[in-house]
Amino acid sequence: MAHTIVIFGASGDLTSRKLIPALYRLFQKNRLPVDTQIIGVSRSEFSHDEWRSQLAISTEKFTGDSFDAEVWAAFSQLVYYHPGDIQQTADFKSLSKFLAEIEPAGAVDRVYYLSTKPQLYAKAVEQLGAAKLNDDSNGQRRVIIEKPFGTDLATAQQLNLAMHRVFREDQVYRIDHYLGKETVQNLFVLRFANSIFEPLWNHNYIDHVQITVAEEVPVGRRAGYYDTSGVLRDMFQNHLLQLMMITAMEPPARFDANLVRDEKVKVLHSVRTKIGADFAAETVRGQYAGYLSEEDVPANSQTETFAALKLHVDNWRWQGVPFYLRSGKAMSCRTTQIVIQFRDAPHLLLGSKTRIPTANQLVIQVQPAEGIQLHFQTKVPDTELKTKLSSLDFRFQQNGREGAMPDSYQRLLLDAMNGDASLFARSDEVELAWGIVDPLIAAWRSPAAPPLQTYPQGEWGPEWSTEWMQEQGRQWFDVCPVLKG
Ligand code: BG6
Repeated sequence: MAHTIVIFGASGDLTSRKLIPALYRLFQKNRLPVDTQIIGVSRSEFSHDEWRSQLAISTEKFTGDSFDAEVWAAFSQLVYYHPGDIQQTADFKSLSKFLAEIEPAGAVDRVYYLSTKPQLYAKAVEQLGAAKLNDDSNGQRRVIIEKPFGTDLATAQQLNLAMHRVFREDQVYRIDHYLGKETVQNLFVLRFANSIFEPLWNHNYIDHVQITVAEEVPVGRRAGYYDTSGVLRDMFQNHLLQLMMITAMEPPARFDANLVRDEKVKVLHSVRTKIGADFAAETVRGQYAGYLSEEDVPANSQTETFAALKLHVDNWRWQGVPFYLRSGKAMSCRTTQIVIQFRDAPHLLLGSKTRIPTANQLVIQVQPAEGIQLHFQTKVPDTELKTKLSSLDFRFQQNGREGAMPDSYQRLLLDAMNGDASLFARSDEVELAWGIVDPLIAAWRSPAAPPLQTYPQGEWGPEWSTEWMQEQGRQWFDVCPVLKG
């Protein structure tokens, strides 16, 4: 079966930095279905060869050592460029004609990738419908849509309506690139392919869960966009809630797109929506020092670049187990980690002879030191009964082959081409996630909002975040991942 991928927003950063390098690597690994065509569409005028030459430079830059000029030469013959403006109906007609020229006779599966400005998503879909490019009588038609999917619940609902006027839900692939990360998928394996964790994975043994996505870099040249978004929209509505759903969900009956997403959605249904007076006590908001001097940021901006939330999942498994979610820019280091903090040992048998032992922790390092550590107590040899925290440590890079951690987009593009939506967000999932984040954003804009705390760059967020955890008798896992050679 032949495949066509049409990328709208072809001259944009995502196309050169992520999409084309991912497709090139799939081709290099012989994973791209035979007979694939890739067509870039944007307003600029390029010939096919001009676009290919530009992409050769960017792909070499973003694939590093795996770039091979001969492989690129072969791959680039699958790549075409077609100028077009999303606002112009005539341009979609000419795109349709161009597709007919280059596609082989017979059925062809097509994926439309919307990598344009989010404001153009609804228009692009409407135009695809008007040009009958959604007609799936001669091959599948699917559409991949980048984040942000709306800026709140109302806009997400409008966008879902616009999508569903032209495509069925099973044709819509909403990307969250965190789901394409190998270590995030490994969470499914850790939880559902091992029997030893399941009996412990609940309120009987777990005290709380911490999910941290810390970034070392400040907002940089995306400051203009970021200031209108803030950390809750940029990171929590999507990535952090996704990590939380996979950590908290029940096992689905099969790894089937709808069954997996049904279980994820149930987690969102169980999250207590914060609209009461407790929201101020259960959230921390921060802004890094220097944010107000970033280009395009108003001098009085109240936009949060850091947030910590205490979420409650009101269901049988997680009753009384808070989920602490935290993310920020300009923090100590880049690390994404999920910490399962187990309860203390029930009886301090060794109490008088040793310091109080730290409870067990399972640390799932999502990036950049992809791996898992189990922390547990051991005896220090040659002492009466001194204990110390030791760890069982697994690293993907030690076990995998060289370059075994592919970029998220490789897996996600391939899944969309193959019609597997398991790692994509469904319409209800996106709307429920906004339903959790919207009330918090509104509360933070109300007079009862907790103060916006400034934090120095290169720290784990505001000091208050540390004290806030301590007041609850808990401690953040503030450890930068140790990368071993
Ligand atoms: C994006 C956010 O979705 O994810 C960015 O818009 C953030 O602000 C990025 O930097 C983080 O992704 P990753 O894969 O580098 O952790």
